[in-house]
This record gives sequence, C-alpha cells and structure tokens, in this order.
Amino acid sequence: MNSLNSQYEVFLLFIKKYLRSGRKEVLEKIEKHKNFGFPSWHIGMMNDSSRNQFYMTEIRNQAKGKVVLDLGTGFGFLTWLALESGAQHVYALEENHLIITILEDLFADEISAGRVTLLPMHSSLLNSSHFHRGQPDLIVHEIFGNTGLSEWVIDIFEDLFNRKVLTPEMSFLPNRFSIHCCAHYSTFINRNYQFLNPEMRDKFQKIESLMTLMHPSVSLPYAQEGDASSPYELLNIDLNQFVPRKESELKIVLHKEANSLRVWFNFFGNSEHFTSDQKLNPGNHWANHFYPLDLSGETVDLRVTFNRGELYFKKLVN
Ligand SMILES: C[S@@+](CC[C@H](N)C(=O)[O-])C[C@H]1O[C@@H](n2cnc3c(N)ncnc32)[C@H](O)[C@@H]1O
Repeated sequence: MNSLNSQYEVFLLFIKKYLRSGRKEVLEKIEKHKNFGFPSWHIGMMNDSSRNQFYMTEIRNQAKGKVVLDLGTGFGFLTWLALESGAQHVYALEENHLIITILEDLFADEISAGRVTLLPMHSSLLNSSHFHRGQPDLIVHEIFGNTGLSEWVIDIFEDLFNRKVLTPEMSFLPNRFSIHCCAHYSTFINRNYQFLNPEMRDKFQKIESLMTLMHPSVSLPYAQEGDASSPYELLNIDLNQFVPRKESELKIVLHKEANSLRVWFNFFGNSEHFTSDQKLNPGNHWANHFYPLDLSGETVDLRVTFNRGELYFKKLVN
C-alpha cells in the first residue's frame, strides 16, 4: 500500500512539473504512470457543447457578485465561468487528488488573489467552517452520472442538507432535475442468438442474465423505432423543496413489443434546460441507458427504487 501511495505521489509531482515546464520528457514519464489518471468520461463531458451551453448561459446570468460553491469542480469549467461572470468568490470543492493538483496550478493566480478557495475533499467532509468568505449564495454542480443518479447526486444533497451545510433557501444551478423512461425494444438485449446448438444458446442466455444482474443498465445505440410507449417521469427533485425520494410507482401502457426501459434525465436552470434524451439531444455525451426487463402485456405496473446511485425496476403483479 505504501509503495502504491509513494508511486502516486511521484506521479503527482510529475504532473506539477509538466504544468510548470511543458517539457515533453516529463510528459513521457507521466505516460508510464497513466493508470493513476482521471476517468476518461471527463473528456466527453468537457466536449459536450449542449451541456456546456446550459452552464454558460445560466452562470453568466446568475453568478455576478455571488459567493459560489462549485460542488464537484472537475477541471474547473464552472469555477472559471463564475469568475468570468463576476462572482465575488468561488469555493471549488473536489475530491480527486490528481484533479486537485491540476486545479492548484490552473487557478494559482485566483487562489493567491483570494478569489478562489480550493476545498480538496469529499462533500461528506465539508462543513460550514470551510466557508471563511461567507456562506455560498449559489451552488453550481454537475454530478450527474450516466443514468442521472449514478454520481450519487441525491445522496450528496441529502447529506449536505441534513448536516445544514447547505439549506434549501440557497440558489442552486441546476435547481431541479428529473428522471424519465419509456418502454423500448432493443435488438441487443435478449436477442435470439443464432446458435445451432441449443445447449450453447442456453449457456449464453445464462451469461446474459448474469451480466444484467451485475450491471442493471447497459449503454447501447439508440434507434427511435425501438420506443414502445410514451415517456414517463420517474422522479423529480427540486433542490429548493428537497425531499429525498427513494421509490416511485408507474403504469406503462405499451403500444408495441418491448424488452427494456430506456432511461434519460433532464436538469433545469432559471431560463434553460438540458436533456440527455438521445431522441431530442442526439449529440450529448451521456449515452442511452437501457434496463432489460420482461415487459409483456398491454400495461405493466412497475416499482422503481433509487438506491445508492442506481435505479432498480421491479414488476408488480396485479
Ligand atoms: C461530472 S464532473 C463535473 C466537473 C465540472 N463541474 C464540470 O462541469 O465540468 C464531477 C466532478 O465532481 C467530483 N465529485 C463527485 N462527487 C463528489 C463529492 N461528493 N465530493 C467532491 N467531489 C465530487 C468528481 O471527482 C468530478 O471531478
């Protein structure tokens, strides 16, 4: 464990060295340790122009003169937008050590000028005493994982509200988010394998059951003709009237055969909104997510549970 920690320290030192010098030899040394790097989704996320447009418009309209908390700063896009829009101060909260090292360099001038405070910790360790420049008035965040909840957005806000580090009277961007689904037929899930040997087909079906048990949702290309019902809302969280919902029920009316649920999410600002629905916003980096499910009959009653960042669907028997 020690040697892994010290290798990681060396890796961070090389990152610092490279940021200061830009030297190619240092970059080569970093490459040898790149397994310590940041998750690759940061690249898709930072290139997602519809996502970026949402935050640019809203932050430019809202951040002037505000004390801002950037909850989950990443490489600092929202912090940078807030500073550019005239925020009085930004608290940049981030838990990833590599990213923190980069933020220290990226915002070195703003940190020494007292415009940015870096809070290098997980949100569960944050408390009001960290707000030495006053309580934040505007909390900006983008902690939406691939199915909306998988970066634990509900749990993170529940913890911060319970401990009164944040209060629902503050302004949030996004201030509301919702999760949606529709029934869908996918040719990938539960496909009829073209195996001539029925035993091998059965074995593969078992493997498929194991896969979907371990990963209840899969990311697949979206085909509009696969949609088999109208859209339904599963969950709607308003941060200004926060209720940590854990469960919801719905009745799906099918208009054709379906074998999964297609799930997406929306989030809202004062004037703009964003959707990860590939039908309406095909270029967004949050892929389509499908939950394999036995959906037979004209209507299906479902219970959905939101637990530790995941959605679980259960068919209810009438
Ligand atoms: C989806 S990225 C968003 C980055 C940046 N805000 C942006 O919009 O470009 C979320 C970031 O929040 C950090 N993060 C997630 N949950 C966190 C938590 N509970 N406490 C602190 N940082 C967190 C992750 O490490 C990641 O860098």
